[in-house]
Amino acid sequence: MQRPYVIDQMISAKAIAARVEGLAREISTRFAGTDKLVVVGLLRGSFIFIADLVREIDLPIEVDFLEVSSYGDSTESSREVRVLKDLRGEIAGRDVLVVEDIVDTGFTLTHVLKLLATRDPNCVEACVLLDKPSRREVPIRATWTGFEIPDEFVVGYGIDYAQRNRNLPYIGKVRFT
Ligand code: IMP
Repeated sequence: MQRPYVIDQMISAKAIAARVEGLAREISTRFAGTDKLVVVGLLRGSFIFIADLVREIDLPIEVDFLEVSSYGDSTESSREVRVLKDLRGEIAGRDVLVVEDIVDTGFTLTHVLKLLATRDPNCVEACVLLDKPSRREVPIRATWTGFEIPDEFVVGYGIDYAQRNRNLPYIGKVRFT
């Protein structure tokens, strides 16, 4: 049973769209001239973000997905990161852009970047939609960050609370009632 809660809008769909367009422009400039870019979405939270982001990237990219375990149905970070679904493709010699929904403690992104770096890519960069810097336990920062947010539990635009609310078009904060 979930505790009752309401969702207060934090970042509008319009603000997200404008920021995603800006991120994609910077990414297209950074990787201009390469045909080796693989955009790797971390399932499941990044599925809407990556869908919008890649449609604004003006380069011949490939898209792949990686699923790692994280919070389960709780709002507390679990420290253990396990690969639940690996990439389909090889990334040796490729430029890799990891797309993540949120960096919180930093454990997940740190683990994923280290794992992918062992596969001899040309480079591995990260683009995250949301960053909660005040929660960081591992010093990591993505190359591109959509929005820095305070220490609130958020949902929407692909991000869930106990698998719900991924379909909200905006980012909202969960307020327990
Ligand atoms: P980290 O390993 O603590 O950085 O956690 C990253 C993962 O935790 C994200 O990919 C999310 O799946 C999840 N997470 C962190 N904060 C939130 C939140 O506010 N709402 C929903 N999921 C979150």
